[in-house]
Amino acid sequence: MHNSISPTTIGRVHSNHAVKFQKAFELRAVDLFAGAGGLSLGARLAGVKVTHAIENNIWAAKTYRHNHRGTKVIEEDIRSLPAPGPLGPRSILFGGPPCQGFSTSNQRTRHSLNPNNWLFEEFFRMTQAAKPEWLLLENVHGLRQTEGGAFESLIRERFQSVGYGCSLWSLCASNFGVPQKRHRLFFVGRRDGFAPAPPPASGLPPVTVRDAIYDLPELKNGADQDRLAYSESATSAYAKLLRSTLKSCTGHLVTANNSLVVERYKHILPGHNWTSIPQSLMQNYSNLVNSRSRHTGIYRRLSWEAPSTVIANYRKNMIIHPEQDRGLSVREAARIQSFPDNYDFLGSIGFRQQQVSNAVPPLLAKAVFATILSHC
Ligand SMILES: C[S@@+](CC[C@H](N)C(=O)[O-])C[C@H]1O[C@@H](n2cnc3c(N)ncnc32)[C@H](O)[C@@H]1O
Repeated sequence: MHNSISPTTIGRVHSNHAVKFQKAFELRAVDLFAGAGGLSLGARLAGVKVTHAIENNIWAAKTYRHNHRGTKVIEEDIRSLPAPGPLGPRSILFGGPPCQGFSTSNQRTRHSLNPNNWLFEEFFRMTQAAKPEWLLLENVHGLRQTEGGAFESLIRERFQSVGYGCSLWSLCASNFGVPQKRHRLFFVGRRDGFAPAPPPASGLPPVTVRDAIYDLPELKNGADQDRLAYSESATSAYAKLLRSTLKSCTGHLVTANNSLVVERYKHILPGHNWTSIPQSLMQNYSNLVNSRSRHTGIYRRLSWEAPSTVIANYRKNMIIHPEQDRGLSVREAARIQSFPDNYDFLGSIGFRQQQVSNAVPPLLAKAVFATILSHC
């Protein structure tokens, strides 16, 4: 019978053992406020097994499910969920509670009366019951300044009151291979009080908008054909990585702007913004004209040779393609966020734009989780 054990069978026996061995050491995770799954994808890329995700928006949940087949998605309002049982050792609870309320571009609801600014308390309700080994809470940089830093102090106190260490990492995505100047805050700690140091920047030259989107098809204002074949071969190592072996991908959807908006686009050179638009075309934009120091991200045309400005609410902010007189497509924004091209976003164009804009860039998330894993 010995003869029946071929080299392939031996390989299989070994790999089964290897898989079991690896699984025994796997870090298992739950994603609260999962969105489209940018943070979860980074976790997976680093080698974390995300078992459950909570998300109450129907389209974000659909997108998450479609791209993370091995994760159970709980499509509920987190506030309605009962407290879970303990997660056990080698576990991490992570999530990015809604952050519009802390964003510096939102002066209207950036205060303690906005109920969404208190959803992080749900994170701690879950923590108290689940007792994970690690905690990771992500948010926007503006959280530090909201209510004079009160939210930052409160979150730290919450970590520490249940015995966790708490480091605060302020990281810029462009330092981690993402073609975007996007700053994110991460509160990170371990149950035994350990508070790890942040990951070091990659030290590599920044990835540019050209690296990110140059090979994608030419599109018109209002383009609505979701799936298109690539029109040329990948023109950068970054594009090659995100395309992998695909021949086509989805997300070639562009907001249909009216002719006045498109006319404004024509006056803006790469790297410039709404201040280049002639006054005669800005009549219904007097509030913007009167606040010259603010809103530098509005009507910004991206420059080929630099990382992108932050992709947040990019339909409303009118982020413009470097050469074509139109807004960014969903796929271009996803590339700038470092999502691979096989990552599909579901729902209407508005829902997809929001899912992409809300996400933590997967490559930044990967660096964050790799650092945590290095301490496991
Ligand atoms: C900042 S986004 C998360 C982005 C995600 N971390 C990523 O990287 O793709 C916050 C998410 O929380 C969800 N959310 C807001 N309130 C919620 C609630 N009460 N229960 C569950 N999910 C909620 C929103 O629908 C949104 O998708």
